Amino acid sequence: MAKLKIVKFGDPMLRKVARPVEQITPRIITLLDDMIETMREAGGCGLAAPQVGVLRRIAVIEVEEGEVIELINPKIIAFAGEQNEQEGCLSNPGEYGITKRPQAVTVRATDRHGKEFEVTGTDLLARAICHECDHLDGKLYIDVQIRALTDKDFK
Ligand code: NI
Repeated sequence: MAKLKIVKFGDPMLRKVARPVEQITPRIITLLDDMIETMREAGGCGLAAPQVGVLRRIAVIEVEEGEVIELINPKIIAFAGEQNEQEGCLSNPGEYGITKRPQAVTVRATDRHGKEFEVTGTDLLARAICHECDHLDGKLYIDVQIRALTDKDFK
């Protein structure tokens, strides 16, 4: 496995729409493994392929330690409720904002074995699913931010 370089806000890569994965090749498997390692090393709970310079519809999420969700070609198929909570991004280290997101989200995706699955998340997992799916469409959390948090919020 290898740790990948995470591009930062301002990089045009983060504003592009990623292409679907048509075939799960050994390269895709390696990318998934590397993305998980990179996310963990950076202390994040989600990472999308465009953040490591790959314009493919792939994301990884780890909200509960040891429970990695790998999303290939994810699509949000249902959402409900609303939450306004704190969100950040590994491409914008040290910055946080309050975003408006659904309280619950169901996503359909393909796993590394090519099998389709669905997962429903609430609270932080719902936010993470929305955040990572947005990355694949060139959208960032600051686009749905109600307000940015400042040092004062953490005192
Ligand atoms: Ni992000």
